[in-house]
Amino acid sequence: MPLKIYRNAQIFTPVDSGKPCSGPNQGRIAHYDRGALLVRDGVIENIGEERHVCKGLEKEQLIDEYDCGGRCLIPGFVDPHTHCCFAALRESEFEQRVAGTPYLEILKRGGGILSSVKAVAQASVDDLYSMTRKHALRAMALGTTTLEIKSGYGLTTENELKMLEAIGRVARDVPLDVVATFLGAHAIPVEFKDRADDYITLVIDEMLPAVKAQGIANVCDIFCEQGVFNIEQGRLLLQAALDLGMNVKIHADEVHDLGGAKLAADLQAISADHLLAANDENIAAMAEAGVVANLLPATAYSLRKSYARARAMIELNVPVALATDCNPGSSFTESMQFVFGLAVLNMEMSPAEALIGTTLNSAYSIGMADKVGSLDCGKQADFLLLDGETPAILAYHAGVSSVQEIYKKGVKINNQCC
Ligand code: NIG
Ligand code: FE
Repeated sequence: MPLKIYRNAQIFTPVDSGKPCSGPNQGRIAHYDRGALLVRDGVIENIGEERHVCKGLEKEQLIDEYDCGGRCLIPGFVDPHTHCCFAALRESEFEQRVAGTPYLEILKRGGGILSSVKAVAQASVDDLYSMTRKHALRAMALGTTTLEIKSGYGLTTENELKMLEAIGRVARDVPLDVVATFLGAHAIPVEFKDRADDYITLVIDEMLPAVKAQGIANVCDIFCEQGVFNIEQGRLLLQAALDLGMNVKIHADEVHDLGGAKLAADLQAISADHLLAANDENIAAMAEAGVVANLLPATAYSLRKSYARARAMIELNVPVALATDCNPGSSFTESMQFVFGLAVLNMEMSPAEALIGTTLNSAYSIGMADKVGSLDCGKQADFLLLDGETPAILAYHAGVSSVQEIYKKGVKINNQCC
């Protein structure tokens, strides 16, 4: 059995206690000053100070030994919220937005998510596959080793399934763990204008059972927002998904405080995402229910909005995770390093809190923490070597990549990036 040791590293990692880290635990990470990671068949067998890890190891057992040169070693990023399966960019809308047209106004005029819907309708599975693969590989080059990808630009049974098929092909072809989420309720299709209830009925009666039957996604999401779906529609759909044995999550309180955070708490969603406008009472309800807050600072940055109140959430004991929200409208970035930097510099999270937010808590928010998100024994050896001594380098050295080496299940994958 191949055994590899990565030694002489500054190792920083969350420690998985069986639940997401909240409150003071959000910032508690393990640090091994001259650390070593022992990997067998892609799985972590031991971690700690080098002298402890090496003790008892017979030299001949070691097939491979790698000196990390004192660089920082952290778990691979887990990006738990993306819409990186799409068929066309929306650069002209970006120009409209920066000239002052609000994001929801563009959607109201039939653009925004609906322009991505038109493009997906015209695209083949092959087209979607190659676009999505490109974004997944770029994310990987920037240090993401586990990636969530949502459908949601289909909005018909056929096109939602087409997206999920493309995502499934990407999942099989790239050396990442890819988690697919069904987001059939992402916008009200033009054909259902003023008939959102009817559309939700279609999603519940036709799309959800098809998704379930094909086994192509086990998580259901919805965009609850003014002019999109209301809380009651959210409750109906997500309860139907729960009844089918799926996990649920919500785009909640992104622009207006509709009570999406409370709905997430009521349904024990695995996450509530965005939360820029969520109120304290509903945030406290999330803490009580153990719902992870997926915060998306690159979206606030791109929409020029105030950031989600990460500090208040941490103080109220909500586990905070961080994601790119990579999509062609509100946040076009694959970079978890950028997100890390925004969290530290604009949301007042410490580098340790941001590390947990981009790894372990984000793994919990997509149901992957048993395999990834920390460097605990028994988990996959998904890790990064940084051009620096501590995770702070990710925020400190702005606008560049500090990720030098990327390992998935113990295999270096730099040469497979785009
Ligand atoms: O998470 N808020 C809704 N959905 C995406 C944006 C999708 C788009 O604009 O294409 C989001 O920000
Ligand atoms: Fe989103």
